[in-house]
Amino acid sequence: MAPYWSEAWGNPSSRQHRLGLHASAAVNLARRQLAESLDVAPERVVFTSGATEANNLALLGHARHWGRGHVISVSTEHHAVLDPLIQLKREGFAVTLLRPGADGLIDPSQLQEAITADTRLVSVMAANNELGVLQPMEDIAAICRRQGITLHSDAAQAFGHIPFQPDQLGLDLVSLSAHKLYGPKGIGALVIREGIELEPLQWGGGQEAGLRAGTLPTALIVGFAMAAQLAMADLPERQQQQGALRDQLWTELRRRIPDLQRNGAEQPRLSHNLNVTIPGVNGTRLHRALRPHLACSSGSACSNGEPSHVLQALGRSRSEAEASLRLSLGRSTTSADIQAAVSCIGDAVDQLNQPR
Ligand SMILES: Cc1ncc(COP(=O)(O)O)c(C=O)c1O
Repeated sequence: MAPYWSEAWGNPSSRQHRLGLHASAAVNLARRQLAESLDVAPERVVFTSGATEANNLALLGHARHWGRGHVISVSTEHHAVLDPLIQLKREGFAVTLLRPGADGLIDPSQLQEAITADTRLVSVMAANNELGVLQPMEDIAAICRRQGITLHSDAAQAFGHIPFQPDQLGLDLVSLSAHKLYGPKGIGALVIREGIELEPLQWGGGQEAGLRAGTLPTALIVGFAMAAQLAMADLPERQQQQGALRDQLWTELRRRIPDLQRNGAEQPRLSHNLNVTIPGVNGTRLHRALRPHLACSSGSACSNGEPSHVLQALGRSRSEAEASLRLSLGRSTTSADIQAAVSCIGDAVDQLNQPR
């Protein structure tokens, strides 16, 4: 990324001079590399500022192309899907949110039942950001395809962490974010199947085939493509290694806190995520006690500190949602880190449970 902040600072849309052409070539290469990791044609990738913008472009852009109709999604989606849907409601669209089971998964038959003659668009995230559960995308896609309904998926948490190819899954619109796979913040993409129509959300220089006007951030795009390539390179090994460490975390935490409860189905799920509720402890005090030692939260970074709507949709109370830990493992996490995390969580819970 570094050269594109310094000597190679040209605007990739300025193709009348060398500096611009150099930046343009870097963007083209990155687009090809990213497309390759998704097994799609490069022209289908539209760079955005992240998954939030990609979701907005997909949902508002596609619905506004139709002008009216019914949209179906799920109550455990990220706010970057739920909030554009609230906007669509304001604009007169009908919106149905499916409620997943206690395991966080939706049953494709729920979708089938919710579809009406007006349904134009379905949006279901591939991997849940809080629970780590993987929705049955192929079955959902089969239902949508049979009825000619466009299927969007927020794959911010899936891409780079599970084998993920939009065409194999039958997805029409896919939102991605670089910073979920060790890429830079502020860059993402919407992958669009040929023939899917979208109204742009902004107008200007006509970049990205007129779908996303604005100067392209060359360095961020180059970083996104490189991060995707690196993620693809060791995906199976990483999944196996992180899955084993995540299981160690669950087993050892359960040993320290016998009434610990897991949130979300045991399988299918991301290998680097564990979400647990610790019954009977005060969530605010638990998180305060962990803060000096552990970077973890009870919900999404985009939840404004409110108790997780995802956990509450699964039937957890507000106080249970607050007394929950969303634990994520990374590339560098070791077995010693897991042990350290278990002892600091165990110690914090012991301290909070002591009679005062
Ligand atoms: C599932 C999901 N969708 C969307 C986003 C927002 O992505 P971005 O930060 O790239 O806008 C996130 C994370 O922040 C996420 O986890």
